[in-house]
Amino acid sequence: ITRVLIDTDPGIDDAVALLYALATPRIEVLGITTVAGNIGLDRTTSNARRILALMGREDIPVHAGAAGPLSRSGIEVADIHGMDGLGGVEFPAPGAKAGDDAVAFLVETLMREPASDIVLMVLGPMTNIARLFRENPLAARRVGRIIAMGGAIRDAGNMGPRSEFNMAADPEAADIVLGSGLPIVLIPLDVTRQVRATLDDCARLSAAGTPQAVYSARLIEAYFRSTSASDASSRPLHDPCVMLMATHRELFRLEAMGLSVDLGTSPDAGALSPESSRMLVLTATEVEGRAAVEHLIAGLS
Ligand code: BDR
Ligand code: CA
Repeated sequence: ITRVLIDTDPGIDDAVALLYALATPRIEVLGITTVAGNIGLDRTTSNARRILALMGREDIPVHAGAAGPLSRSGIEVADIHGMDGLGGVEFPAPGAKAGDDAVAFLVETLMREPASDIVLMVLGPMTNIARLFRENPLAARRVGRIIAMGGAIRDAGNMGPRSEFNMAADPEAADIVLGSGLPIVLIPLDVTRQVRATLDDCARLSAAGTPQAVYSARLIEAYFRSTSASDASSRPLHDPCVMLMATHRELFRLEAMGLSVDLGTSPDAGALSPESSRMLVLTATEVEGRAAVEHLIAGLS
């Protein structure tokens, strides 16, 4: 069983990832921190709380973090994730309140739990994690491993020609985290684009009948309505790959890479390039895509 903290910007695929993490007995969620990304911070925070309310897990603390990147102005992509960030899928209203200092919560949890025990799952822009590292490197060094979704290596980007959203949303934060020497597994678009759900998968999830399966089906169906894709018959499940890396490591191939982050102001800000002098980041290069989706469906059912 992997004990995790999840930093996220829900977000349709973040929501599916959270539902899986909450449902699978292989993961214990100690807390959730939120960041502005797919939509503004208030909404990513209330979305995280809605998901916990659906799962009857409002005992899990939620703490709001950064409302924008370290030093740039924010990007919003409400066209993909809908005006509410969850594609218009209605979740139960949350009761429990959120805290408002994600970094303090991360520090407190990391100092309390055994060193190297906790996996930090990063599903959005890396702003909160960069701040954790800057404000309390001692606590940051107690993270066992970071598993993050972000970047594009050989594949095209989804923001600029070579830049991916989570890295493009806060390149300076990505640079701090990737250069920190903390143990990181990075899952880029090259890999997450191969983990694809079909409408037939949605039908199977709906039929499974658990709240987490039914809502995942609704979220992925909303994703079909809001995006067009070169492959019209499926949609990529980016963020759930982070959870699958923890629960089903054997699905992925990893390679150690030194990666630098484009800190310029072109549309490719946040793009990653190989650079031998940088800290090595374990980067996913291949995945068994269909098997990954099957594990996801099983965990949600
Ligand atoms: C990443 O960007 C967000 O829109 C998704 O939630 C995912 O974390 C994919 O580039
Ligand atoms: Ca995300």
